[in-house]
Amino acid sequence: MLRGFSLCVYDESMQVPSIKLNDGHQIPQLGLGTWMITGEAVAPAVEAAISAGYRHFDTASFYKNERQLGEALRDNGLKREDLFITSKLWPAEFFNPSKAIKGALERLGYDYVDMYLVHYPPLLGAHQLWQQLEQFQAAGLAKSIGVSNYDSSDLEKLLDKAKVVPAVNQAHINPWHYPIQTIKTSLAHGIVIEAYSPLSHNHNLDDERVNEMAKRNGISRAQLLIRWTIQHGWVSLPKSASPERIAQNIDVFGFELNPANMTTLDHLSKA
Ligand code: A2P
Repeated sequence: MLRGFSLCVYDESMQVPSIKLNDGHQIPQLGLGTWMITGEAVAPAVEAAISAGYRHFDTASFYKNERQLGEALRDNGLKREDLFITSKLWPAEFFNPSKAIKGALERLGYDYVDMYLVHYPPLLGAHQLWQQLEQFQAAGLAKSIGVSNYDSSDLEKLLDKAKVVPAVNQAHINPWHYPIQTIKTSLAHGIVIEAYSPLSHNHNLDDERVNEMAKRNGISRAQLLIRWTIQHGWVSLPKSASPERIAQNIDVFGFELNPANMTTLDHLSKA
């Protein structure tokens, strides 16, 4: 039995459990973060990810890899309905979101994304922008819509007038960067948390508390950090371009961290 909340359902035919979103769709709990995977590095990373069992791929117009990602996904012969693809609306695109999502779909080579996110909260016009995403969902261009990098007050402002509650809030989360209030506000509204940079970008490599804990559990530091996010019931989006690390990072569903380990990691940023 996993710690965390009970939205997790395990489908035995899949390696990665799914979480049910507030709009009824399912999201695989682990996906490949693709920021900084560009050009010729995309195809081998996608191929490695697919053969390791990833079906969830997280991109953004800002990452400049949507075209290569779409091509690599098609080259691997999976059915569109078996994939979960997220893209994001970058602030420079806020003045014309309709053009932006059509551009993302054209580059990806698909007629919908599974998730479309506002990449950063806008300074002005937040409600009008969100209305456009609501329209994209109604038109079937995005199955689900959500936000990224929204703190509690950004969320409260959006929720004040929104017709559709965001399905997810994608946030920078790891034991050294643990935005508790944002997480609490999101969960209180039924918004699923997605953790990006769960490995803290490979910073904090010299944190012996974490290195020792990983050693005692017989797992890698990366697996420990990813498992912490999974056991909290969040979606985890580790980035790697290395086939070996990609395979290692999805191998986090066959073991459990004990409550003492979870608590230590929960308090690391305050210690
Ligand atoms: P690489 O792409 O060479 O594997 P984050 O997801 O927190 O942003 O972290 C990404 C960083 O962590 C990248 O530098 C990535 O390098 C590295 N990384 C990803 N997986 C592992 C792993 N299993 N072990 C060590 N480093 C990893």
